[in-house]
Amino acid sequence: MTAALQIAIDGPASAGKSTVAKLVAKQLRYTYCDTGAMYRALTLAAMQKQIDLHDEPAVLAVLAEITISFKPGEPEQQVFVNEQEVTQAIRQPDVTNNVSTVAALGGVRQQLVQHQQKIAAAGGIVMDGRDIGTAVLPNAAVKIFLVASVAERAQRRYAENIRKGINTPLAVLQQEIEVRDKKDSTRAVSPLTQAKDAVLVDTTALSIEQVVAKIIAITNEKQKDM
Ligand code: DC
Repeated sequence: MTAALQIAIDGPASAGKSTVAKLVAKQLRYTYCDTGAMYRALTLAAMQKQIDLHDEPAVLAVLAEITISFKPGEPEQQVFVNEQEVTQAIRQPDVTNNVSTVAALGGVRQQLVQHQQKIAAAGGIVMDGRDIGTAVLPNAAVKIFLVASVAERAQRRYAENIRKGINTPLAVLQQEIEVRDKKDSTRAVSPLTQAKDAVLVDTTALSIEQVVAKIIAITNEKQKDM
């Protein structure tokens, strides 16, 4: 009987975290949890209510009114705010460009982190985000910090957008990624940083399959020690 581990995958925007995390989860028959989707879902709900996203008490009031949930689905997990399916809506550029503001609110992070810790408590989980290895699951058996060059990340986001019918120019995407990186890395609460015990994986020149294989190999090594 192998132990059901916690696998934390962190890194900047568009480094390939969710693609890789989903495949690792599938291969290990673990649950996948996309924590960025939670910040995005709350951002969308607050925007729909036309709330000032810097107004923490108002954003927290929205969080108290909603339930964010996931349902398994192909090709992607479905995301819900209460009964409303928001899987596509939370990936639209207006949400993408506003989510860092909401993710910088300390009270919001505190509550979402607690929620994420409950989801991961039983193990057998692959969780991706910005602070999983440092704050959400500091004792995770496997911690991966995924990076890729800004140019490569912009290119990947561009290709993904084209598939979804979103036509933002490449140069604009690159600039947006740089702005988001800066906001995520310099915020006061839980900034994006590599956990000391995380393994750095640079995906710039690697295929998705190579990255997945690397993480599975790291996990198998850990299993031997458990
Ligand atoms: O991974 P993503 O692009 O869906 O993340 C959306 C935003 O949420 C991004 O600006 C960083 C933030 N985020 C965070 O602060 N902490 C997490 N655990 C996950 C995402």
